[in-house]
Amino acid sequence: MRVVITGGAGFVGSHLCDALIARGDRVVVFDNFSTGRPDNVEHLLERGPQVFWLDERDVCDDLYVPGNVDAVIHMASPASPPAYTKLAIETLRAGSLGTENALKLAARKSARFILASTSEVYGDPLEHPQMESYWGNVNPIGARSMYDESKRYAEAITAAYYRDRGVNAGIVRIFNTVGPRMRADDGRVVTNFIVQALSGLPLTVYGGNQTRSFCYISDMVDGLVKMIDSGITGPINIGNNSEFKISELARIVARITGTKLWTVQCPVPPDDPRRRCPDISMAARALDWRPKVALEQGLRQTIKWFREHPLEVRRAARQWDAAGDKRWLWGKGAPVPVGSVPDPDPIYPLGDRTPGRAEQL
Ligand SMILES: NC(=O)c1ccc[n+]([C@@H]2O[C@H](COP(=O)([O-])OP(=O)(O)OC[C@H]3O[C@@H](n4cnc5c(N)ncnc54)[C@H](O)[C@@H]3O)[C@@H](O)[C@H]2O)c1
Repeated sequence: MRVVITGGAGFVGSHLCDALIARGDRVVVFDNFSTGRPDNVEHLLERGPQVFWLDERDVCDDLYVPGNVDAVIHMASPASPPAYTKLAIETLRAGSLGTENALKLAARKSARFILASTSEVYGDPLEHPQMESYWGNVNPIGARSMYDESKRYAEAITAAYYRDRGVNAGIVRIFNTVGPRMRADDGRVVTNFIVQALSGLPLTVYGGNQTRSFCYISDMVDGLVKMIDSGITGPINIGNNSEFKISELARIVARITGTKLWTVQCPVPPDDPRRRCPDISMAARALDWRPKVALEQGLRQTIKWFREHPLEVRRAARQWDAAGDKRWLWGKGAPVPVGSVPDPDPIYPLGDRTPGRAEQL
């Protein structure tokens, strides 16, 4: 097969490139490197341009590929909260113009089209766990709206190209995924905790009672490949359905990194979903897909990768220090000097909202 992957130099996309090339497919990547990195796919360049072609391009521009294409996978979009907050308009454009350009390419080539959508289309869900039939609870002008609504529009235009232009399209709703090549500075809870634990910083816990589920990258890629090979339209949830409280995640990260758990309690950000867990019965039925890697096993692999990339961790920790004073000392008023270890006195203990008491868990 010859597969075009937009956003293929990102975290998920680069692992998908590896898996497809390992099974003998040829891959073309379009990426503008706004949040992804050439390093993620550099090792594939030695396979030669016939096998792996990397084109630095914005998906909002026309996408041109000579020759046949069997599948187009549209993954290009900022995906972490700090990235899509900083790149709000770019995120909306990648989901709207970018999705249409990728759909047009699939239509021209009579190729299978897969949209990498997200669990964020469910917003702060009122149903639990989230089934594909649930329409979501999204604030259209909220703090996450540039991402949630760009993906909801992307789903809508994918459905329209399927109905009106006959594109063999499928929609995958990706839930939180973890693994090597995540950016240390992506601001997601897993990377925050790992960077903080490996840097001797307290783990910043926003709330703590919200739940999340985490899918290991090899399981996610397995699900995406099955979706490419199927003719299923979806939308279909792919994610791990083991649910963890954020406070539990903090404990697990501290245990694996061998660090003492100390935390800073911060307020829950606006529009942060309280519960997030997929119903994956459709993926099990339609794709014969189930996650195989348990959270702790996946975290061990992820932490091992970060230990092997200390510069990445150090850079993110510095950034964290520089940006973190408000988060660390919420309610205290005095910022912590950049790079200093905060006085445990103003730290709110995990699970205890009373200011002024520190606790090692
Ligand atoms: N990682 C997750 O947990 C998760 C969860 C839900 C959905 N997703 C979706 O999966 C996809 C990949 O996510 P990821 O975690 O690998 O993110 P990522 O940021 O690592 O990868 C996205 C890639 O898209 C590229 N990109 C962004 N805008 C572009 C544009 N306009 N033109 C060309 N390239 C562009 C980036 O440079 C990057 O390489 C995204 O669409 C995201 O919404 C990911």
